[in-house]
Amino acid sequence: MQECIIVEQTHNIEGEISLSGAKNAVLVIMASTLLNSGKNTLRNVPNSEDVLCMINLLEELGAQVNFDQLNKVLEIDTSTVINYKVSPNIMKKMRASVLVMGPLLARFSKTEISLPGGCVLGKRPINYHLDNFKKVGVTFEQSGDYLVGSTNKLLAKRLALEYPSVGATENLMMSAVLTQGKTTIVNAALEPEVLDLIEVLKRMGAKISILPPATIEIEGVNTLNAVEHSILCDRLEAGSLLLAAAITGGNIHIPNASANLLDVFLMKLEEMGHSILIGQNGQSIRLMACKSPKAVSFKTAPYPGFPTDLQAPMLVAQTLAEGVSEIEETVFENRLIHIFELQKMGAKIILENNNKAIITGVKELVGTEVVASDIRASCALVLAGLAANGKTIVKGVHHFKRGYDALDQKLRSLGAQIKIEKQDILQDIPKEKTLEI
Ligand code: EPZ
Repeated sequence: MQECIIVEQTHNIEGEISLSGAKNAVLVIMASTLLNSGKNTLRNVPNSEDVLCMINLLEELGAQVNFDQLNKVLEIDTSTVINYKVSPNIMKKMRASVLVMGPLLARFSKTEISLPGGCVLGKRPINYHLDNFKKVGVTFEQSGDYLVGSTNKLLAKRLALEYPSVGATENLMMSAVLTQGKTTIVNAALEPEVLDLIEVLKRMGAKISILPPATIEIEGVNTLNAVEHSILCDRLEAGSLLLAAAITGGNIHIPNASANLLDVFLMKLEEMGHSILIGQNGQSIRLMACKSPKAVSFKTAPYPGFPTDLQAPMLVAQTLAEGVSEIEETVFENRLIHIFELQKMGAKIILENNNKAIITGVKELVGTEVVASDIRASCALVLAGLAANGKTIVKGVHHFKRGYDALDQKLRSLGAQIKIEKQDILQDIPKEKTLEI
């Protein structure tokens, strides 16, 4: 028996639903509380496995954490943090653990993490983090699976990222806020989740400014205070819910979705023929699905381009659209493997040199057993199951639980026939398909 997501074909997903806090904001903001020694209160915290994993990590470092899961309030007291070593089992569970390096170097001038492995999305090295930490005075020694970083004094430097890496931007910024002098990060990532972190750091007392075209300047301060903050709503969950309505011919209203964070994605939905209504100052989104959507093409890119984390769910919408769609994944080198699962459901997709999918729309998909390879693929396969004839069994439910706060309940409240339960399944998930990201 294995816990799976069971999805039955559902027409016309409709209703109103509110978003949870963003996974890719809350994890790094939780890590940033290591920069102060006080009682931090975070609100609108998603109740997901990754948040629980980050709580374990912070407690391992000595923080006292209380998570009111019902009210989504997380209290983190970092006055008792005494440790700078993250255990391998936590690192292996969640790559975002690498985001404690910057705060630990700022707090202890030392950090010990086990190397985060690669994952299904690709090698996912941390060279941009390490190369730039070295530039600001950190030396690293590798002992076995461990990476020990230490510094006598962090230096304020002008740093340039060869790629606008979200994690590297966040890690370097957090190591710089307590470093005397001015640190500059050129070609920084400016995803909304990075901006939410900047908001938190400034609320703690950090001196940070953003200069065009994509430069972050940090003036170091001596100490930072504890903070209260409400986490940014999850634009990726918004995209997934909008696509659930689009794929099933329904209509949905998300009152707390920020349309201004999803411009390119919403433009593509409109190009398909779906009607999008945006509220005052972009603060709500309504989608009415069109009955015969047209296929659209796109390539993923750093923000504000098409988000790589919505590539898989949007690709599912193309499998049932009229015409041919070309989707190019430019952010990760191996983030199209969900197409093999969709082919099992009858999708017509050709993979070109591992980073381009050519999709010819079909009349219908057919439900079957499929395996989710990562968080966003798990959501995509659930959406495919909503559209497909019959029943779809999605294995790899831990990805779904890691990345979302009860997305199955949200979809059920909109009429989806979806549940998570133990199932006898035909074959176990091949080990290599279950690596965490
Ligand atoms: C963050 O990952 C997100 N995770 C990812 O979301 C998201 O897809 C990604 O940013 C891009 O937007 C969190 O915020 C916890 P990157 P991150 O550093 O920081 C390469 C999800 O499903 N790279 O911007 O790891 C890397 O391999 C997850 O929610 C290096 O080569 O992403 C990738 O190809 C998936 N060396 C590209 O850059 C480095 O040192 C972008 O990675 C760092 C990254």
